[in-house]
Amino acid sequence: MSVKDISKVPQHVAIIMDGNGRWAQQRHLPRNMGHVKGASGVRVLVERCAELGIECLTLFAFSTENWRRPDDEVSTLMGLFVHYLEKELRGLSDAGVRLKVIGDVARFKPELRQKIEAAQSVTENNTRITLCVAANYGGRWDVVEAIKRWQAVNPGESVADLTEAALSGHLSTAGLPDVDLLVRTGGEQRISNFLLWQCAYSELYFTQTHWPDFDAEELVKALGWYARRTRRFGMTSEQTKEFAG
Ligand code: IPE
Ligand code: IPE
Ligand code: MG
Repeated sequence: MSVKDISKVPQHVAIIMDGNGRWAQQRHLPRNMGHVKGASGVRVLVERCAELGIECLTLFAFSTENWRRPDDEVSTLMGLFVHYLEKELRGLSDAGVRLKVIGDVARFKPELRQKIEAAQSVTENNTRITLCVAANYGGRWDVVEAIKRWQAVNPGESVADLTEAALSGHLSTAGLPDVDLLVRTGGEQRISNFLLWQCAYSELYFTQTHWPDFDAEELVKALGWYARRTRRFGMTSEQTKEFAG
């Protein structure tokens, strides 16, 4: 499938980057090597998404549940994140990438928090594509935080007045479109507490390919699959045709 076959390009693609450990185990390598290989492919994919006209790419890098992993694996993942921010930032910024980190960063070490802040501010005026990295992110955390923030800015109001639109504006993804296409690599078919609210109407694409093998060709395959979906948003097929013009 070539790029010209992709007639409908999603605005927002989100990816659960899974299968690093199994990729490594299949090669008799330590799990951490899977994470290293997985992180090394991100830059090319981001640039490919930008070329294809995707406005936002959100990557699940570390979940609120991933703290349950062995200490050395958690350290490797944190180290890779720091390394990524140091080594890839310049290239990403030159390519017009705006970096946004979503998740509870308060739990990270000050060094990492400071690098996240710097990376976000250096790239904040870039407009070609938004790369949203979900780190210590949980979909349930996001919704609860949004409610707290709404209450903080509306101290006198009752939650009875809370609307979907108001809540969306306080999620970590405020200002970004809802997810059109959710991709999960690694063969599992679950959400694992990713963008629960934002994926309410996403198309779901599951592939057996492990994340370190998910290259630009695999991305184009997923986008080709997406282009063949009919999104109905609750309407009938007939209505959907009219809606799409
Ligand atoms: C995804 O790969 C990376 C993170 C969760 C950070 P995994 O490490 O979950 O790989 P598998 O699922 O064990 O193969
Ligand atoms: C989801 O993968 C989290 C990330 C990709 C960061 P996991 O490998 O942690 O998910 P489960 O535990 O298999 O559901
Ligand atoms: Mg996994």
